[in-house]
Amino acid sequence: MTQRMLLVNGPNLNLLGTREPATYGTDTLEDVIDLVQSTAADFGFEVRAVQSNHEGVLIDAIHAAREDCAAIIINPGAFTHTSIALRDALTGVDLPVAEVHLSNVHAREEFRHHSYISAVAECVIVGAGIQGYEFAVRRLARLLPKN
Ligand code: DQA
Repeated sequence: MTQRMLLVNGPNLNLLGTREPATYGTDTLEDVIDLVQSTAADFGFEVRAVQSNHEGVLIDAIHAAREDCAAIIINPGAFTHTSIALRDALTGVDLPVAEVHLSNVHAREEFRHHSYISAVAECVIVGAGIQGYEFAVRRLARLLPKN
C-alpha cells in the first residue's frame, strides 16, 4: 500500500513568491508542493497538500491525517508562535511531525523565537528556504518503517 505524507502550510503562505521576497524568496506555494511531491515520490510516498489561513481548517486536516497519513510536514506560519490548539492537534494524532520555516526565525524578531510546535516535532528545519521542505521529507522517510 502506498503511504502518504500530509503537507500543511499555514496563514499567508498562499502568498509565497510575492510576499516579502527578501525574507521568503520568490518560489511559490506551488513550487513547494511540487518539490515535496517529487521528493516524496522518490521514497514511495504520496502527498496531500493543505494550505489555509484559518486555524480550524488546519486542525481538521491534521485530524483527518490520522486516517490515512504516515507523517506530517508543517509550516504553521505565524500560528507557530501562538497556537496551543495546533500543537494539541499534532500530539492528538500521534504522527511524526517535521516543522519547517523558510526563514531563520531565530535571526528575526524576538516573538518569532518561540514555537509551540517544536517540542512535539521530530525535527525542526529553519532558514533553508524551500529546500527545508525537501529535508523534511527525507528525514521523515528515513524515520518511517519501510512499506
Ligand atoms: C514562517 C516564519 C513565521 O514567523 C511567519 O509568521 C511566517 C512564515 C517561515 O516560513 O519562515 O508566516 O513560518
